[in-house]
Amino acid sequence: MESIAWTGAALRVVDQRRVPDETVLLDLADVDAVVEAIATLAVRGANVIGTAGAFGYALGVRAGLDPVDVAARVVAARPTAVNLRVGVDLAHAARLAGDDPLDVAVRLLEEDRAACAAIGELGRAALAGASRILTHCNTGVLATTGRGTALGIVYAKAAAGEPVEVLATETRPLRQGARLTVWELQQAGIPVTLLVDSAAAAALATGRVDAVVVGADRIAANGDTANKIGTLALAIAARHAGVPFYVAATWNAVDPGTPTGAAIPIEERDASEVLGTGPGAPAAGTAVWNPAFDVTPADLVTGIVTERGVLRAPFGPAIAELAR
Ligand code: MRU
Repeated sequence: MESIAWTGAALRVVDQRRVPDETVLLDLADVDAVVEAIATLAVRGANVIGTAGAFGYALGVRAGLDPVDVAARVVAARPTAVNLRVGVDLAHAARLAGDDPLDVAVRLLEEDRAACAAIGELGRAALAGASRILTHCNTGVLATTGRGTALGIVYAKAAAGEPVEVLATETRPLRQGARLTVWELQQAGIPVTLLVDSAAAAALATGRVDAVVVGADRIAANGDTANKIGTLALAIAARHAGVPFYVAATWNAVDPGTPTGAAIPIEERDASEVLGTGPGAPAAGTAVWNPAFDVTPADLVTGIVTERGVLRAPFGPAIAELAR
């Protein structure tokens, strides 16, 4: 299954809001549809929104809209994952150079697939001997155009015949772990156990986990990493339990222009995602804080697996070196 594909006329995406109940494909034929899909998380995951953003830009420009305006609208769809800005910037630069931005978007599909494969192999080597992997949110087939970043390492281990099993956190409030990660690992025949987010520290403290591996929406120049809300709690619990904590991300998530995690914009989403509806819902009007991401300081990170190599502390110099 491909999370996104170009049909020749539209960007065809799996509507991730409907997984695992049904597989609904959406054909996004203009920039408005792409922006709406990204903002509502029909299309989600840093890598896929980066590629979708490039397609959105290309569709807008092809429709004769103002390129600068189109770029700004697409980038504003979600603020935290820098991949979105990278995808749009690449497409915009191609247009300024007289090239077709659509070619850039199509190329990003291929490059993301290859980068995920490289992360899988590099991560497999870095995490040799770790078979019980705890992960958060969804970083796999649905979130990338390849086999994934953090989950790409899991898939690489399985493909190599190495023992691997996953503890998947539920990932409140939108349950990307419960709905998406569990579903795609089950499809692949990889053992997966679901736990509520608040059980993760206990899993770590009781020796059930060999390594935590998560994705990233933005990695600052010093290695501070923004990822799905709850990642910071996992990193703290992993450090306390003496369990290695790895970030796996394609280079498009690295943002050397953001000095530290404090400068990463954190998306805050609607209260309705937390409150829900129906029996058991809190009282209407209850005050809610619903950040979609948090920042894990670099000193809690054991290593960052990218397609360019596995980064180790001190991350600042390591990132500067690989950015060249
Ligand atoms: O809000 P989401 O579902 O887009 O958040 C996704 C994550 O936090 C992922 O871990 C990250 O984007 C990496 S996906 C390869």
